[in-house]
Amino acid sequence: MKILVVGGAGFIGTNFCLYVKKNYPKHELIVIDNLDYSSCPKILHDNKIPLYVRDITNKHCIEHFIKNCDIAINFAAQSHNDNSFNNPKIFIETNIIGTYNLIQLCSKYNKKYHHISTDEVFGPITNSEKNHKIFTPNSNYNPTSPYSATKASSDLLVNAWIHSYNLKATITYCCNNYGPYQHIEKFIPRTITNLLSNKKPHLYGSGMQSRQWIHVLDHCAILMKIIEKDLTGKYTIGYGTEKTNIEIVKILNHYFNKTPDYYLQVKDRKYHDFSYKIDNTYVNNKINFTPLHVDLEKELQILCEWYDENRWFWESRKENIEANYAKYGQ
Ligand code: DAU
Repeated sequence: MKILVVGGAGFIGTNFCLYVKKNYPKHELIVIDNLDYSSCPKILHDNKIPLYVRDITNKHCIEHFIKNCDIAINFAAQSHNDNSFNNPKIFIETNIIGTYNLIQLCSKYNKKYHHISTDEVFGPITNSEKNHKIFTPNSNYNPTSPYSATKASSDLLVNAWIHSYNLKATITYCCNNYGPYQHIEKFIPRTITNLLSNKKPHLYGSGMQSRQWIHVLDHCAILMKIIEKDLTGKYTIGYGTEKTNIEIVKILNHYFNKTPDYYLQVKDRKYHDFSYKIDNTYVNNKINFTPLHVDLEKELQILCEWYDENRWFWESRKENIEANYAKYGQ
């Protein structure tokens, strides 16, 4: 199978390429990516995975790649909530227009399309709802940030193309991913690299918000099972371990021999989703999957070592990222 990995130089896309190359060597991988600030082409180059610099907002420059693949899997997105509050336009262009271009071409050439969505399209679960609310692929959409609204919009376009243009597509909604090659603007790598730089972690607001954390390679393993089985439909993916943000900071502080209260409480997000909760039943009914990376504390320790050993990946970016956060009091 010829798999077109759209946005394959970003965090999840890179891990997906490495996972497929290692575990499914029979498949051919081709990456298109616009190489924006959060990408890292070096890993693809080092692993001899072909990469073409293309932007999905330009339909003509990606047509050839869709025409010549068997399936396009779309990881390309502006994905950071904090950035979306300050600069929503690029989220609309990449996430909505980019998806529109991809699905138009996939239906034109009768190619399969996999859309990477997010649990955030369903909106937050509040503290009082925690014991009875859970997201399934049929849950109502209720996005609260410009980022999640653009992801929700793109999902709805995919859905419409399935019905109106016979697009053969799957959508997955996953919880928070962690693992190597994640950009250091995100919570876990930001906290680790702060600690590696002798700076305190920054906690937004109360730190009582929680996320379900799945290792990126478990996410990639599920995606490949969905692709290999040639499934259609929509699947929520939530094999992650739930932790509050403050619990994550404490785990990382412990690893760096810091006291549990070694953090700065900073300005909260403009709107901060409290938590999300995912029902795995739909995906479990279709694929046989046992996650491999289930011990979050052990995996976080491995990740700290990874960021320590791979300073080339983040050190030169750190100052700018932190200066940008500082502008917004975070
Ligand atoms: O749920 C899936 C989503 O997870 C993906 O769709 C998004 O692309 C991805 O960015 C992630 O969204 P979050 O907003 O949950 O991730 P982030 O790493 O930005 O923040 C995780 C939590 O940590 C959130 O409650 C905000 C908080 N936080 C974040 C940063 C960067 C802090 O307390 N301090 C920080 O320095």
